[in-house]
Amino acid sequence: MPNDLRRQVTQAMHEEHMATLDLLGRLEHTVAAGGNTPPDAGEQTTRDLMHALLSNLEHEVTRHFDFEEQRLFPLLDGGGKGELAAILRREHEAIRACTPKLLDMARRALGKGLSARDLDTFRHHATALIKQHQAHMQREESEMIPALEELIDPQNDWELWNGYGSV
Ligand SMILES: [Fe+2]
Ligand SMILES: [Fe+2]
Repeated sequence: MPNDLRRQVTQAMHEEHMATLDLLGRLEHTVAAGGNTPPDAGEQTTRDLMHALLSNLEHEVTRHFDFEEQRLFPLLDGGGKGELAAILRREHEAIRACTPKLLDMARRALGKGLSARDLDTFRHHATALIKQHQAHMQREESEMIPALEELIDPQNDWELWNGYGSV
């Protein structure tokens, strides 16, 4: 994982990746530890995780993904890294495809709770999301962020950083 990043915008992406990886780790732990018993809808740890998952899928992933697609991937395209940008775009689409069912399950878990059948569905989609999203973050950390550090100058960094709030 990169450290000593020189640009605000790469630092912001990096910090959001770390927060998402932390959430995915918690989700992975819950899915692995749960056995065949649905998560207890009344338990605070379950509620905190489901709220964090909802927030991540509804807002952070949407905003973060949109910003990368609209502002950062075009820089990769223009900087000779079009192949990487194409892979990252495809990964975004695959992750987006996992999210509606998981959003539905997380809302249900916070409402009346998950049935044993829901639990299978939740586990299936959560496992797919974890696998795809972890691999995506790792690719962005190891390939996208170092490339952007070279492609973004201080002036461009300032403009991108200011634009992040308006995506
Ligand atoms: Fe990202
Ligand atoms: Fe991304």
